[in-house]
Amino acid sequence: MCSPEYFAVEYAINPWMDVTTPVDRDLAVKQWDRLRETLVGLGHEVHLLTPEQGLPDMVYAANGGFVVDGSVYGARFKHEQRAAEAAAHHAFYEAQGWRFIAPGETNEGEGDFAYVPEAHGGLILAGHGFRTEIPAHAEAQEALGRPVVSLRLIDPRFYHLDVALAAIDDANVVYFPGAFSAASQRVLTQLFPDAVIADDEDAMAFGLNLVSDGANVVLNSEATRLAGKLKAAGYTPVPVELAELKKGGGSVKCCIAELRH
Ligand code: ARG
Repeated sequence: MCSPEYFAVEYAINPWMDVTTPVDRDLAVKQWDRLRETLVGLGHEVHLLTPEQGLPDMVYAANGGFVVDGSVYGARFKHEQRAAEAAAHHAFYEAQGWRFIAPGETNEGEGDFAYVPEAHGGLILAGHGFRTEIPAHAEAQEALGRPVVSLRLIDPRFYHLDVALAAIDDANVVYFPGAFSAASQRVLTQLFPDAVIADDEDAMAFGLNLVSDGANVVLNSEATRLAGKLKAAGYTPVPVELAELKKGGGSVKCCIAELRH
């Protein structure tokens, strides 16, 4: 995770960002801190990346790489405004001794890649359409040695895979079908017949942008309906308020890069 110490909405690269809306940075830091404490309280270890002035989106740490089986496929941001973040993530992973594979193709890390370890022996789901480019899907498969399933995103509000789909345990996912092309919806139905299905209200509340340890699902507190669906499916929803960071177009998952050994 990376503190929103320098968080701001200074440019608009997704439909949620409005440069005229004021951002309360202190509140953003407080809310982010609560998220960090929540993860620690659930027994997870949180490593911190040092924020850098001039990189207001750095709080969305999920976009800096994608880690599977101890290997990191590095990010290469689509927009110039975020390009410099990649080096900070690279340095972090190198310093910690992870195997790092430098990307040649445009991809935004866990923003567009998800991993489901027990699905078909370990499956990578990958989004394209807005940020990550299709050649990066093949590159990720070669880098990580796990099959990659390409899914096409069609709604600009859901510009990253992680605002439309999330793994809720080692074998299952929750997703909002409307964010995907008809063909990609069919692929998801085939792969995950028992998936939890979210609707546009759940998605608009950033409910899909969640992290789960298989039992506890940490999600945006505005997504009350989705919390109910997850509860009915046997999970424990853990709501967290992240209204300030929503102004940048992200929530829980965007703030967390998962480190998978
Ligand atoms: N403002 C950031 C951008 O548009 C938000 C990134 C959100 N991160 C995510 N993993 N979806 O790039």
